[in-house]
Amino acid sequence: MNRIEIYTPEQIKHIAAAGKIAAQTLDYIEPFVKTGISTLQLNDLCHNFIKKNGGKAAPLEVKGYKHAICTSVNDEICHGVPHKNIMLYDGDIINIDVTVNLNGYYGDTSRMYTVGKISDTAKDLIETTKLALMEAINVVKPNQPFSAIGKAIEKITKPKGYGIIRDFCGHGIGTMFHGAPHVFHFYHPEYDNVLMKEGMVFTIEPMINATPSITYFIDKKNKWTAFTQDGALSAQFEHTIVVTSKGAKILTRP
Ligand code: MF3
Ligand code: CO
Ligand code: CO
Repeated sequence: MNRIEIYTPEQIKHIAAAGKIAAQTLDYIEPFVKTGISTLQLNDLCHNFIKKNGGKAAPLEVKGYKHAICTSVNDEICHGVPHKNIMLYDGDIINIDVTVNLNGYYGDTSRMYTVGKISDTAKDLIETTKLALMEAINVVKPNQPFSAIGKAIEKITKPKGYGIIRDFCGHGIGTMFHGAPHVFHFYHPEYDNVLMKEGMVFTIEPMINATPSITYFIDKKNKWTAFTQDGALSAQFEHTIVVTSKGAKILTRP
């Protein structure tokens, strides 16, 4: 595995500034997430907000990705590509994922939104996924193995019979969008001896399915959007955090 970057307090301030704009973007877009809006409109609103605040939309730097944000609706797991014909309807759930580049520093965060009245299954899936992220954040501290993150997430989601997506992970972030380490959301014994150190910055971003199934397929046309194989709903929350002497500090809090 590549070396995991350790950031200085000065650099962490810059990452936090990027993270703050990303989090504010998620707050800003909330009232627009309503029946009848398209995911492309959500993309454009978020993009304008990011630019107005002096940032750049990091997904536009990813080779082959042509949009400012990801919008993953219902059975879309992640990397949902915004489109003018994807409209939101009553009962939908959607993850909006924003990554801001501010002066060469990156902050990455996503959360779930609901449209009108959603099912009890959807509600429980969203609450459970959010809890899983927060419990995983709670185990972060110096000298903790990275495998503790996946353990914490399994502890919350397994009793519900929900599936944890294995092929998309959290990641190191800071002066790059995606770096070492892979942050697995399931227990991965290889990470028992990869330890967290003060100044490491990474994302935790569990993708949880409403069924035990963990298989997915990629949209044949846009080559990005990942869907659950069985059509089950999928939810995700993401924060960028830094390891401090006292535990995790969330850098993507609004
Ligand atoms: N923000 C996503 C993540 O959490 C990555 C999006 S990359 C893109 O890592 F190209 F799909 F935008
Ligand atoms: Co991420
Ligand atoms: Co993200």
